[in-house]
Amino acid sequence: MTRKLLLLIVLGYALFSCKPESVSNSNSQLNPEIETKISDLLSQMTLDEKMGQLNQYTSQWEMTGPAPQGASQQHLLDQIKSGLVGSMLNVTGAEATRKTQTLALENSRLKIPMIFGYDVIHGYQTMFPIPLAEASSWEPELARRSSRVAAIESAAAGLHWTFAPMVDVSRDARWGRVMEGSGEDPYLGSLFAAARVKGFQGDDLSANNTIAACVKHFAAYGFIEAGRDYNTVDISENTLRNVILPPFKAAADAGAVTFMNAFNEIGGTPSTINTHLLRDILKGEWGFNGFVVSDWNSIGELLIHGVAADTKDAAKLAIKAGSDMDMEGYCFVPNLKTLVEEKAVDLSLIDDAVRRVLRVKFQLGLFDDPYKYCDENKEKTLILTPENLQIAREAARKSIVLLKNEGRLLPLRKEGQKIALIGELAADKDVPLGSWRAKAITSSAISLLEGMQHAMASPTDLIFAKGPVFISGQSKFNLPLEFNTTDRTGIAEAVKVARNADVVVLALGENCFQTGEGRSQTDIKLKGLQQELLEAICAVNKNVVVVLMNGRPLDLSWMAENVPSIVEAWHLGSESGNGIADVLFGDYNPAGKLPVSFPRNVGQLPLYYNHKSTGRPNNGDNNVFSSHFTDASNDALFPFGYGLSYTTFAYSDLKLSSSEISKGEKVQVSVTVKNTGLVAGQEVVQLYIRDLVGSTTRPVKELKAFEKISLEAGGSQVVNFELTENDLAFWGADNQFRAESGDFNLWVGPNSVEGLKTSFKLK
Ligand code: BGC
Repeated sequence: MTRKLLLLIVLGYALFSCKPESVSNSNSQLNPEIETKISDLLSQMTLDEKMGQLNQYTSQWEMTGPAPQGASQQHLLDQIKSGLVGSMLNVTGAEATRKTQTLALENSRLKIPMIFGYDVIHGYQTMFPIPLAEASSWEPELARRSSRVAAIESAAAGLHWTFAPMVDVSRDARWGRVMEGSGEDPYLGSLFAAARVKGFQGDDLSANNTIAACVKHFAAYGFIEAGRDYNTVDISENTLRNVILPPFKAAADAGAVTFMNAFNEIGGTPSTINTHLLRDILKGEWGFNGFVVSDWNSIGELLIHGVAADTKDAAKLAIKAGSDMDMEGYCFVPNLKTLVEEKAVDLSLIDDAVRRVLRVKFQLGLFDDPYKYCDENKEKTLILTPENLQIAREAARKSIVLLKNEGRLLPLRKEGQKIALIGELAADKDVPLGSWRAKAITSSAISLLEGMQHAMASPTDLIFAKGPVFISGQSKFNLPLEFNTTDRTGIAEAVKVARNADVVVLALGENCFQTGEGRSQTDIKLKGLQQELLEAICAVNKNVVVVLMNGRPLDLSWMAENVPSIVEAWHLGSESGNGIADVLFGDYNPAGKLPVSFPRNVGQLPLYYNHKSTGRPNNGDNNVFSSHFTDASNDALFPFGYGLSYTTFAYSDLKLSSSEISKGEKVQVSVTVKNTGLVAGQEVVQLYIRDLVGSTTRPVKELKAFEKISLEAGGSQVVNFELTENDLAFWGADNQFRAESGDFNLWVGPNSVEGLKTSFKLK
């Protein structure tokens, strides 16, 4: 083929697959050399071999879903040898991946390398804070760095591909999977989505320490009714475009090479067969050139949803809609060939899907050296290194949010203060590793007890009491978790220790397997005897610091009223205890801000700061005919963007470059922030807007920019932001993305509720 002809084909493909506005998307740039190689290979492939590239099985030894029926190990091995398995998930380790790869390469006709995927959600073996926690740092660069480490460790263990980042905007704390994402805001979520993709994929996907990202779950999984996992979603195109899709788009723009379907339906159509999502938006408008993998058996589940009569029907619907790879669905391999032969599916659709899968394999460099990731030596030297743990510690302390600190109870003194440390979670070395923990070594986290012991000058100043048992039988395979509500052994001892201490640090929260996939709850209060313990401790000592370890927003209403200091420490990973101790003793001044609203009670859910006005907003007077509850207020207990420091900050001099701008112009915003306290600290300066009148209703506030600054005690800084027309744009009534003329309010402040306010007009 001549170079010119080749260029035409590539250009034609690119034009077909993207609209003008997405041309800059790195996803739409194809490498002509790779495209020729794919064409050559495609021309040699049988239909069976093509189907094989679209097929993914799990290793039989580690599964995250229902075990496949009738797929014996021998059958699996035979299929790999015949080139019928293009990918596997849950095969890990340099040795295992090498062996599996060898099976494909030494036996299959065309020797196409397999691609190995795994859920590396917040670390491979060095565990970083769960993603929701890490989003509390408001430092996307931190997420890029932790994802980089996760990629280096995974690649050293033979993996090519992680099923991350999870970028689902989530507004409902009942959903166990809120821990996997970056919270409720599309803007913050977009920055974290892009950062994680860049961390996993690096600058060069063909390097042997970068892995392919998989953006999931496409789409709207975070909007399942009642937060009950896998449940139904019914949302408008307006919400889809304005709220749900931005982080996906950001991840695609950052160059993510794979996407994953979501389990849920939207308005009657399961996402796995949603042509509008997959073909119109992802592969069309956004020019996405990578491939889409189904979620675990989400093609097979089309039968159970009730939209496919049999697996053949399911395969047809999925491939037509743009799902390219069948994860554990057993639908593509038995059916695609017949569907093509019967002309029910056009061969060009199969070819396009195969081309996409092969493209990622070429981009990863697997055709140059299919074993380059399988290096036992690297596996021994690059995983769980002191450098990686150092980044995990930095990430841990940066993810902590100080929710309350009355009377400056914190920071604690390292000596001369008798500290009672109470609670089973305080000594737990496993819970901080979190849900979705990849290859974390069980019970390998630094516990809070250990972290405090390391930090304190005299170990005798710290007395630990375990309190009552939280859960009986902590195995993740022993679901549902059984919370102890009857055995009060340990409470009396804990109360005695608390009574004799100057200050109490009380660890409360959730077991890590209370959150994650399939762990939805109807109640978000403290489980077991934790509330009882808390009240008993508060009755004998007023100086109580609660350290929370959890994976979702909790109902902290009683605590917020009755406890002077509350530290939100999430599930922080390998270095949890050290990170928390850094904050408790003031070696690190906390600067985290909540990426989700904390409700007053479960009945407020879904709760999010960027809600709509409604025609009858509650103006605080609880007018009976306003949109309100009669038994609780509308607002969050701790709002989005909220978090304290050991110092204080004052905002002044909010200025705009102009109170009126024309389309195409920019608004320059400046504000002065002063550290008015006694110690150095960091502040996340947040900018919100409200578009007062639109062709469709607009949120009462929307985060549009933020900056994390460091200030010495007494120091001040002018913080500058720039808003472009694009920042004011949204998907309006005509389903176009554009800024509409009119008035805007603008706030700059420390969270989504407080701040200085001004306004401007877009002409
Ligand atoms: C989850 C995905 C995950 C997949 C593979 C599914 O149950 O929804 O997020 O990547 O399993 O483990």
